[in-house]
Amino acid sequence: MEWSSKLELGIQTVDTQHKNIIERIDRLEIALDSQATSVTYPRLKEAHEFLESYVGSHFREEEEMMEKGGYPDLAAHKLMHAKFENDLAKFRDDLDHTGLITHATAKLVRYLSSWFIDHIKNEDPKYVPYVK
Ligand SMILES: [Fe+2]
Repeated sequence: MEWSSKLELGIQTVDTQHKNIIERIDRLEIALDSQATSVTYPRLKEAHEFLESYVGSHFREEEEMMEKGGYPDLAAHKLMHAKFENDLAKFRDDLDHTGLITHATAKLVRYLSSWFIDHIKNEDPKYVPYVK
């Protein structure tokens, strides 16, 4: 999964955040594909922690914009964000409890990639006319 200008919503702050999140996930995917020995548990934890906190502030910012713009489907959109954050927390528990780096990581990265791209392509564009 790579960032592409096709994923831009035309809102600079949001696009920058989406790009940073995708690049971070992409870096993990590349590291995993190359089976680099640098993909260690602490590194993975650090990547996960970054994503968890960065994604959290990104979602709060989007939600605030939607609220200000009077986006009618805010409640449903918030639920999608909450589900993703909840799943991210579950992966953290998996990582901590199983210690199975490759399995947990592969699962985490696949899930993050597909959810995020799908969300940016299909859900986020719906709020754009309200916040511009
Ligand atoms: Fe969103």
